[in-house]
Amino acid sequence: MRPTPASSGASTLFSSLDIRLATADDLDALSWLTTHNLRPYLAGSATSAASSDTSCNLVAWIDDVPAGLLLSRQDPERPWTQEVLSLMVTPLFRRQGLARALLQALSKRMQPLGRRDISTSWSDRLPQLDSLRALLSSEGWQQPEQSRLRMSFNIGEREDALRAFQPLIAAARRRGLRSFALAEAGADAPGRIASAATFFTRAGSLPAWATPAPWLERCDPVMSQLLLDGEGRLCGWLLCEHQPAFHRWAIPIGWCATGPGHMLLAMEAALAALEQHAGSGATVILQPSERNGHKVCTLLDRHFRPYALWADRLVVSRKPI
Ligand SMILES: CC(C)(COP(=O)(O)OP(=O)(O)OC[C@H]1O[C@@H](n2cnc3c(N)ncnc32)[C@H](O)[C@@H]1OP(=O)(O)O)[C@@H](O)C(=O)NCCC(=O)NCCS
Repeated sequence: MRPTPASSGASTLFSSLDIRLATADDLDALSWLTTHNLRPYLAGSATSAASSDTSCNLVAWIDDVPAGLLLSRQDPERPWTQEVLSLMVTPLFRRQGLARALLQALSKRMQPLGRRDISTSWSDRLPQLDSLRALLSSEGWQQPEQSRLRMSFNIGEREDALRAFQPLIAAARRRGLRSFALAEAGADAPGRIASAATFFTRAGSLPAWATPAPWLERCDPVMSQLLLDGEGRLCGWLLCEHQPAFHRWAIPIGWCATGPGHMLLAMEAALAALEQHAGSGATVILQPSERNGHKVCTLLDRHFRPYALWADRLVVSRKPI
């Protein structure tokens, strides 16, 4: 099928363009318009009533052909932001204004829900990087910024990846440091973390971005760790998240370290817990944000990239709506 030009004045070249929410009935037709790891997300949000306030997945139909798909969700850390997770137009229909029309339709739907901006992040290794950058720039999005280093590992590599750090981990153990899974630390553990965070923030040892409240609700208790010092006092934590829609665990989503070797000890315990729980084929994603410090990203990049299945940097842009 070839595109049929529309009459002038339409926002795209197509007279028969119809942009609608994705439904459960569309799933088979849409699966090739998104990546493998987002298909479970699309299926989940198209079939769950609970996600109707947070997800907005739009399909651009040309007659009965799904020509473009935009997947988005409310950003869990910035509830006033709708985050575009994926935007794909089938090659035959590119450069006809479909992506622009999908983004504009999303903005229109999100304004009445109180969203103040839309955002998207992408890999600096995206094959169609130039097209996306040109699209966002032509639509008035902000200048893209590097936001995260991202590395994916097979949990079975954990011992090799941590081998060089064993002397530091052993030294932390000798000082009496212990790491416990949140699941084993008692029902009051989240409350203890919250009050320790208040204390550390007042003492100036926990920056504002590291406040654990937003992550405590969604962290995985089997993998997330609490650190206790030689006197049994809570002195740090490492919070991890299970992301079933992407078939992976993110480590860490939040952390606090008050001494040398703390994070390495907690990381070792978290990875061992995950291997026991999910098997050696489980996928872990390590994605420190640039706002946690460029130095941290550079260090992790240098030490762990050799063991990664893949690595890239995420770039982010947003647009007020
Ligand atoms: C990026 C993508 C979604 C753009 O879709 P599209 O429907 O072709 O984009 P549009 O036709 O709406 O383009 C709107 C504007 O963006 C710019 N643009 C888009 N693609 C461009 C390209 N290849 N070269 C230069 N400018 C481009 C142009 O300014 C264009 O306006 P114009 O045609 O009037 O000059 C599409 O190329 C795609 O699906 N790529 C693969 C998936 C992907 O990388 N998605 C993004 C990350 S999830």
